[in-house]
Amino acid sequence: MQRIAVVTGASSGIGAEISRLLARRGWYCVLLARREDRLRALAEEIRGEYELCDVGDREAVDRAAVRILERHSSIHLLVNNAGIPARSTFLEGDPETVMRTNYFGGIWCLRAFLPALEAAAPSDVVNVVSVAGVVAFPPSGPYSASKHAQLAFSRATAAQLRSRGVRVHTVKPGFVETEGFPQGWLPRPMRRFVIGPEKIAEHVVASVEHGRGETTVPRYYAIGGVLQALLPNVLARVLGRPGKP
Ligand SMILES: NC(=O)c1ccc[n+]([C@@H]2O[C@H](COP(=O)([O-])OP(=O)(O)OC[C@H]3O[C@@H](n4cnc5c(N)ncnc54)[C@H](OP(=O)(O)O)[C@@H]3O)[C@@H](O)[C@H]2O)c1
Repeated sequence: MQRIAVVTGASSGIGAEISRLLARRGWYCVLLARREDRLRALAEEIRGEYELCDVGDREAVDRAAVRILERHSSIHLLVNNAGIPARSTFLEGDPETVMRTNYFGGIWCLRAFLPALEAAAPSDVVNVVSVAGVVAFPPSGPYSASKHAQLAFSRATAAQLRSRGVRVHTVKPGFVETEGFPQGWLPRPMRRFVIGPEKIAEHVVASVEHGRGETTVPRYYAIGGVLQALLPNVLARVLGRPGKP
């Protein structure tokens, strides 16, 4: 029997690469996002299918899930990957949309697909979080807050769903060059730490295959979380220095 994966945010970047890699490994992928032209092209490429869905809209998620579950009663893998940058601080911009997409989106998708994940148990959920889930970076404070919240969601549901046969994996990438997150703004010495979305896809699939819980990719970015946890006041002074963004 072919294993079924639902991948959110599959129309570009990390989600598209995860879907391609899963398809190469024999998975049948159901792609979710808002841009139909992109989803249709990728679904044709990997012989999968797609549904249009704004993951931040709970009713839209429920409607998409009903359509998908009519075709597939068991879902073996849900990848909660859809996400947007905030591109603003807490002092301006729209912190609600970023929370709705990055945080609530994962919750609505998990709830909508949980019966089908339990029907397929043992099954897997991957939440694509971020190093921003453990470091509060001032220029994108609302994005960091959404990823902190998503991390708590991922950790709590990992513990809660373990006994129900649903394994929850938390993946925290560092800087990745994608359409939504172009990294050209980084100072030149930092750019060597930027990786491609295919590396995250390899890590995500390995996390599922090897049953890894919570990981940072590349691993050296974990130092950010250690500094934030052990030296929060020093980090706040460094990030708040005049001349810093
Ligand atoms: N790139 C990085 O440096 C980086 C680092 C750490 C974590 N991440 C996380 O990785 C995930 C993927 O980001 P990416 O870098 O691959 O960016 P991307 O290329 O911009 O991809 C984002 C995907 O999310 C979808 N999306 C956005 N809002 C949505 C919504 N409301 N409903 C449904 N789909 C939505 C987009 O599709 P549509 O526009 O077609 O809806 C797109 O497919 C995000 O959760 C991001 O926070 C990225």
